[in-house]
Amino acid sequence: MHNPESKKDPIELKSPRELELMRNAGRVAGLALMEVQKLVAPGITTKDLDKAAERFIRQAGAKPTFLGYRGYPASICASLNEEVVHGIPGKRKLKDGDIISIDLGATLDGFVGDTAATYAVGEISEKAKELIFYTKKSLDEAILLMREGNRLGDIGACVQSVVEPRGFGVVREFVGHGIGRNMHEAPAVPNYGTKGTGIRFDLGLVLAIEPMVTAGNYAVKVLDDGWTVVTKDGSLAAHFEHTVAVTKSGPVVLTAI
Ligand code: MF3
Ligand code: CO
Ligand code: CO
Repeated sequence: MHNPESKKDPIELKSPRELELMRNAGRVAGLALMEVQKLVAPGITTKDLDKAAERFIRQAGAKPTFLGYRGYPASICASLNEEVVHGIPGKRKLKDGDIISIDLGATLDGFVGDTAATYAVGEISEKAKELIFYTKKSLDEAILLMREGNRLGDIGACVQSVVEPRGFGVVREFVGHGIGRNMHEAPAVPNYGTKGTGIRFDLGLVLAIEPMVTAGNYAVKVLDDGWTVVTKDGSLAAHFEHTVAVTKSGPVVLTAI
């Protein structure tokens, strides 16, 4: 989400029953993303991917969360190459060598699951492979920090520590977020920060953690369509996201399949 949005609202912790409902919503989102992943290949349009995701989400009895959100016109975001997030699906065809970030949300029984991943289209450059690998790794390592007593700054510090030594940039203007009955809840979850600072994690906290990482400078801008976020320097970007709960038994990835 855009950085300052809903930062100051109170943080709503979820009960075990609410987490169960969030797991159901999250599973639908995770499975929908897997369906889309299967279709990623040269020649398919981003609109085709959007339609497949929408069909899957609706067949599961859920709603595509993004459709109509602040006027957003589709069920997924499909962001190619230098596009970071919020790319609008359309007639553009995927081609060999592209990378594509797919983000989608499912609302079920009043709760939202939000998840994203970046995929290779055919054969991609070594640089692009490395960008995807370390962006995913930064999310995987950050997820392990979703434990009672840890702090918000631990997440951003972790993401930075994984990607910056490889020369990659961490986007500042867009961040992760709390999530529950609404896709975007407090707190904002920056992918940069200082270990040991920020709010303390309590049981029932649910965050959408979503590192957005660039192969060059981290500065971004929004295109004239009002949505598509691209790197200012035209460098490639990757994006991975999971909805994750802090529980007695540790981190639970609600959008896992
Ligand atoms: N799911 C995105 C996020 O991770 C937000 C998408 S906004 C929409 O925060 F309008 F495209 F839905
Ligand atoms: Co998302
Ligand atoms: Co999100």
